[in-house]
Amino acid sequence: SIVTQVYRTAYHFQPPKNWINDPNGPMYYNGLYHFFYQYNPNAAVWGNIHWAHSVSVDLINWAPLDLALAPTDPFDAYGVWSGSATILPGDGPVILYTGISSENQQVQNVAVPTNLSDPLLRQWTKPDFNPLLAPVNGINSTLFRDPTTAWIAADGRWRIAVGAQIATKGMALLYRSADFVHWEMAASPLYSSSIPSPMWECPDFFPVLLKGREGLDTSANSEEVKHVLKMSLYLKDSDHYILGRYDEEKDIFVPDNATDDYQKWSRYDYGKFYASKTFFDPKKKRRILWGWLNESDSESDSIAKGWAGMQIVPRTIWLDSNGKQLLQWPVEEVNSLRRNEIHLHDLELKPAALYEIKGAKASQADVEVDFELPSLERAQLFDPTWEMDAPGLCSQEDASVQGGIGPFGLLVLASENLEEHTAVFFRIYKDQDQFKVLMCSDQRRSSLRPEIDKQVYGVFLDMDLEKEGKISLRTLIDHSVIENFGGGGRACITARVYPAFFLNASSTHIYMFNNGLESTVVRLKAWDMANARLNLKVEELSVE
Ligand code: FRU
Repeated sequence: SIVTQVYRTAYHFQPPKNWINDPNGPMYYNGLYHFFYQYNPNAAVWGNIHWAHSVSVDLINWAPLDLALAPTDPFDAYGVWSGSATILPGDGPVILYTGISSENQQVQNVAVPTNLSDPLLRQWTKPDFNPLLAPVNGINSTLFRDPTTAWIAADGRWRIAVGAQIATKGMALLYRSADFVHWEMAASPLYSSSIPSPMWECPDFFPVLLKGREGLDTSANSEEVKHVLKMSLYLKDSDHYILGRYDEEKDIFVPDNATDDYQKWSRYDYGKFYASKTFFDPKKKRRILWGWLNESDSESDSIAKGWAGMQIVPRTIWLDSNGKQLLQWPVEEVNSLRRNEIHLHDLELKPAALYEIKGAKASQADVEVDFELPSLERAQLFDPTWEMDAPGLCSQEDASVQGGIGPFGLLVLASENLEEHTAVFFRIYKDQDQFKVLMCSDQRRSSLRPEIDKQVYGVFLDMDLEKEGKISLRTLIDHSVIENFGGGGRACITARVYPAFFLNASSTHIYMFNNGLESTVVRLKAWDMANARLNLKVEELSVE
C-alpha cells in the first residue's frame, strides 16, 4: 500500500494534505501574489469544497492563510466552487465565484475583503445581496458556473463570462454591469459552440499582444491585440483555446478561423492539465497561467497518501510571433531553485546512443536540451492519416521503434535497470515539402504498478524545422510530475507518474537517447531543484 510519501512533490504547489482542484482567483495586489484553490479540508477526495488561500512574493514560495471562503450561506450552502478575482480601480479586489445553493442550484456570488487595510486580505465577506446571478431564462441550474475575471469595455460597463451548457451547446455566457452589483445577461453569448458540446467549465478570456511577451490587463483592447478564449471540457479532461478578436461593439468573440468545431481548438497542455486560469501580473507585466494537475493513480491511493492534486509551476503565456499559437514558459522565479548546474556542449548522440546524465538529482531537476539536426534527409515519410492522432502515433512508433530522424529525447524518472521510465521524445517526418515534428510523452513503462492511468500523450509541434535546425526541450521533473515544454514552449505535455521503484528507495536516473539513423548534436543544461517553501509563516514573506 502507498502509505509512504514518495510521490509528493518538492516545488509544485500543494497543501500538506487533502484534496485540491481548480486554481481560483489568482491576482497580484499590494505587493503580494494571492492564490486560491478548490479544497476539501476534510479528505483526500473531492467534496465539501472551500476556497483555500496562500500568498507569495515570488510565485514559488508560499505562506498559507486561513480558508478564504466556506459554504455557509443559502447561496453557497453546498459548495464554494470556482471563480476569479477582479481588481476594481480605486476599490480593490473582489471575488466572483459559483455557489451551490441550498436548493442545489448553481448561482454566481460576490465576496469582498472584510478589511481592505489587511495587507493579507485574510477575511472575505459575502454581501447579503447575493446571489448576483441565478440560473433563469432556460439556463440549466446544474450547468452554469465558473465566472471569469471581469473586463471593462469602452462604454464603461463591466463584463464577465460564465460557463454553461444550453440545450446541446457549450458556451460562455456574457453578463454586463455598471456597478458590479446588478448584472444583466447579454442577448448573445460571448461565444458558443455551434456543434453539440459538453458544458464549458472554467472559461477564461483575455487579450495578448500581437508582438512581444508582455502581458496585458484583462480590459486592454486595441488593434495591437488578439483575444484568447479558453474553456475546460470535463469529458476530455482538457483545456482548449482559440484565438480571435473581441468585437466590443457587438460584444462577441470572433475567432480568427471560422472553425466552430471545438475539437480542433488548440490545447494549453496535451497531457494531464485542467481547469486553468490566467491573471495579469502588473509587477512584471506578464500574463501568468495556473493549472490543476490531478492524480493518475486511484482514489484509494489518494486516501492512503492523504492528499490528491497539485498545481503546475506557474507559466508565463504569450502569443507566438506567427500569431497562430500561444507560447508558455515556467515563470523565471522558478530558476531561483536551480542548484549544481551541469553543462554539456556539442555532445554527439549517435544512432542507438543511451547516455546517462550523471550528477543530477534525477527525482527533482530542471533539464534544458537542444537537439541539433545537421541533416533531415533520412526523415521517414509522413502518412496524412496520422494528422489527427498524435498520441496514437506516439504509442505505435514509440521510443523503442527505430526511425530516420529520431526518436530522440529523454528517459526520465528511470530506475537503475530502465525497467521503469517515462520516455519524452521527438520524431521527425517528411510531409511533402515540409517537416513534421512529433512530440511524445509515453507513460506506459513509467510504473510497474498496474492500476495506474498510463495514457500516451502526443502532439505535433507547429515550427519551421528547416529554418531553426534544432528542437528544444525543457523538462521539469518533480517526483510524480513531469512538465515538458517542446520547441521553446510551443507545446506542453505534463504527466503524472508513480514509479514502483520509489517505494523501495532505489536511485532515480535520467538518460538521453537516440534511436534514429542520424546523429543529433546536443547542448544540455541541467540543475537539481531545491525544495520550494510552501508553508512559510507570513512573517517570513519579505513584502515589497
Ligand atoms: C472544474 C470544476 C468546476 C467547478 C469546480 C468544483 O474542475 O468542476 O466547473 O466550479 O470544479 O470543484
